[in-house]
Amino acid sequence: MSPPFSEIASMVGGQVFSTVPVPEADFSGKTVIVTGANSGLGFEACRHLVRLNVSHLVLACRDVNKATTAKEHILAAVPNNNTTISIQHLDLASFSSVQTFAEHCSTTLPRLDALIANAGIEVKTFALAEGYEQTLTVNVLSTFLLGLLLLPKLQQTGAEHGVETYFSVVGSAIQIFAPHEQLQQDDLFKALSMEENADMGNRYYLSKLMDMLCVRALAARTTHLDRVIINCVSPGFCDTGLYSQFQPPWHTKVLLKVIGITAEQGSRCLVKGVLGGWESHGSFMSEGVVKRGGSWVESEEGVEVGERVWKDMMGVLEGVRPGVGKGLQK
Ligand SMILES: NC(=O)c1ccc[n+]([C@@H]2O[C@H](COP(=O)([O-])OP(=O)(O)OC[C@H]3O[C@@H](n4cnc5c(N)ncnc54)[C@H](OP(=O)(O)O)[C@@H]3O)[C@@H](O)[C@H]2O)c1
Repeated sequence: MSPPFSEIASMVGGQVFSTVPVPEADFSGKTVIVTGANSGLGFEACRHLVRLNVSHLVLACRDVNKATTAKEHILAAVPNNNTTISIQHLDLASFSSVQTFAEHCSTTLPRLDALIANAGIEVKTFALAEGYEQTLTVNVLSTFLLGLLLLPKLQQTGAEHGVETYFSVVGSAIQIFAPHEQLQQDDLFKALSMEENADMGNRYYLSKLMDMLCVRALAARTTHLDRVIINCVSPGFCDTGLYSQFQPPWHTKVLLKVIGITAEQGSRCLVKGVLGGWESHGSFMSEGVVKRGGSWVESEEGVEVGERVWKDMMGVLEGVRPGVGKGLQK
């Protein structure tokens, strides 16, 4: 079912008529992890964070060589900076890689102020990773496994330093086009991972909708006392390498040229995401501000289905890492 015209108009209007200002804030003293930091939005967000004096930046990438090149470019773009940039291997297609990364960060980083969960894929061909369709594994399961494993570190930082910390997931406004009826299946992640009925044309949209639903569900299971703000951030339609991961149709290519924004412009939203405040907790942000995530997301059905997606996801993640949801409310 198509979303209401008003929602499509709001999305296109935001894309065409709004420009997110270059973020201004002081990140000195703070430690931030950016996943998928070697290219596109993640890379540009890192450049902003270094410009804004972040003290320690962790580039979490699946290809350490690409991350090394990215680090060199960041240092060249922002000379005389006050940032320590470290590189850590992270492959979201592997649950053990996620756990190794989280363990390393939890034990070695003195503090963690923000996790920008940016890495993601858009593919149109079916493949499995860890027994699940790879888009689900990378964009949803591993993204939340990582967030949940680092939640104690974020909480600890908040408590010790008296600050708000962030788990910010990069979603997409395109979620309004997701075929949400596909979420009404038992044993959801297994059902969506059956090749014969996998709707790969829409899979990316569905994964981004699932991100939003799980952000809201996780936020509902934490309190302000945890001092962790959890939100879902849309960067807008940006001309990045995301669209070279598959052969996009001609109209996507044309649209990208006509209304697409640069990775740098889109990355401003990622930085705004970790400045969003409690107003953004459990919510969707687009064009750098809190915005409606869509009428279906907010509907009674959307809330009920969202809870089921969360529970199904937690069933998978508990199997990967028993006790991963320990300490959450509800
Ligand atoms: N571009 C847009 O219009 C748009 C719109 C809405 C949302 N987004 C979201 O924005 C985020 C960043 O995308 P982008 O547009 O900047 O595209 P991009 O340039 O392709 O960046 C994607 C990043 O994710 C990394 N990645 C992919 N699979 C990974 C894995 N298994 N483990 C760890 N890292 C992995 C990539 O690493 P490699 O370089 O090694 O492949 C790359 O660094 C994604 O979540 C995307 O869905 C983009």
